[in-house]
Amino acid sequence: MTPPADASLFRDAAVPMELLRQRAFNLRWATLPSDVIALTAADPDFAVAAPIREALADYVRGGVFSYGPPEGLPAFRAACAAMRTARRGLPCAPEQILAVDSAAAGMLHVARLALRPGDEAIVFDPVDFLFKSSVEAAGGVVKLLPVHPATGAFDFDALAALVTPRTRLLGVCNPLNPLGRVLSADELRRLGEFAVAHDLWILNDEIWSDIVYSDARFISLPSISPAIAARTFTVQGFSKTFGLAGLRIGFVVAPTPEAFDRLLDVSLARTTMSGASTLSQVGAVAAYEHGWPWAEAFVAHLERMRDLTVSLLREIPGVRVRVPEGTYVAFPDVSAWELGAEDLARRLLDQNRVAVVPGAARWFGPGAEGHLRICFSTSEGILREGLGRLAAGLHAERRKG
Ligand SMILES: Cc1ncc(COP(=O)(O)O)c(C=O)c1O
Repeated sequence: MTPPADASLFRDAAVPMELLRQRAFNLRWATLPSDVIALTAADPDFAVAAPIREALADYVRGGVFSYGPPEGLPAFRAACAAMRTARRGLPCAPEQILAVDSAAAGMLHVARLALRPGDEAIVFDPVDFLFKSSVEAAGGVVKLLPVHPATGAFDFDALAALVTPRTRLLGVCNPLNPLGRVLSADELRRLGEFAVAHDLWILNDEIWSDIVYSDARFISLPSISPAIAARTFTVQGFSKTFGLAGLRIGFVVAPTPEAFDRLLDVSLARTTMSGASTLSQVGAVAAYEHGWPWAEAFVAHLERMRDLTVSLLREIPGVRVRVPEGTYVAFPDVSAWELGAEDLARRLLDQNRVAVVPGAARWFGPGAEGHLRICFSTSEGILREGLGRLAAGLHAERRKG
C-alpha cells in the first residue's frame, strides 16, 4: 500500500522555483524574465511524486540502457492496460497499448494512420493546437466544429455540413483544453455515432481525464458502445496528471489487433526511428503503480485553485468565465477590452509581469479569440500574486464603449 500523499506538497514553499527557472520551458519559467509569474503552458509547478523519482533513480543506478521493444516495455503496457481497466471501466489488454514518446506523438501517429494528403479531419474549435498540427503534419485539412466558449455547448447542427467524401477522422478532446469541459454521455454518443455513420476514425485525446473535479464525471468515449470503440484510438499521456512532460511519454490504445499493427507501422517504432525511452516508461509505470495518492492530493489542491481562480476572475468587472469541470486551465472572456487578446497578453507581460496564453487562433483555433488561457496548477500564493497582477493590468486597460 502506498501511503496517502500530503497536501503540504502543494504549498508555496514546496514550489521548486530555482529548478523551474532552469528546467520549465514551453512558455514557462525558464523562458521568462525572473520577475514574471508564469500562468502559461499547462504544466504543474511541483516536484513529481516520490515513488516516480525513486523508480527513475533505481533504474539509472542499474546502469543498463539497452534498446526496449518497439511497442513498449511489457511492464509499461501492462500498467497502462490495468489503468484503463480499473479506472475507466473498460476492459483493455496490454496488446492494445503502444508506448509513444508523448501524447503529442501519439496524436501524430493516429493522424498519419487515418489520413492521406488532402483528406479531412473534423476537430473542435477551440481546442489545443496539437489537433491541427497533427492533422496538417499528416497532410490533412482541418474542418472546425464550433464549441461555444461561453456555454461550452457543441454546435451539433454544424456537424453534418462539415462532412465531405474526403473526411476520414474526428478529433475528440475530453476533457476539453482550453474550455475545461468534461463531455457528457449524450455529447459523446452524438460524436461517436456521427463517426460510425460516416465511417470515420476517432482520435480520442484523454490526456486530461484524471484532472476532473468533484462536480463532474469523466466518461471514456469507447465505453459508449462497441461500434464506437471499434474505430477509436485513445491517446493518453503523463504530463498533466504526473508532471512528466519532460520525459516525453504517453500511449495510444488501439481498438483492434489490425489497427494496432497499422499504428505500430506508421509510428516507425519498429525501425527505431521513433519510440518511447525505456527510462520514461519506468517513470510512467511507477506513476500508475504508486503515484495515485499523489495525483489525488494534486487534484484536491487543483479544485481549490480552480475555485480561487474563478472567484478572483469574476471580481474583475467585464470578465466572464465558466467554471472548468476538468483540466487546470481557465478561459476567461476578455472581449470587453479594446485590445485584442494577443495585445492584452503582451501588455500584461510587459507592464504587469504576468504571462498568460492569448486565445489566439494559432494556439486554439479562431473560436478562441477574445479569451485568455490561464493555467492554475501552481501554489495558492503564486496564483494569487499572478491573478492580482492580471486584475491590475485589466483595470489599467480601457474597456470598449
Ligand atoms: C489536449 C492535449 N493533448 C495533448 C497534449 C500534449 O501532451 P504531451 O506532453 O504528452 O505531448 C496536451 C498538452 O498540453 C494537451 O492539452
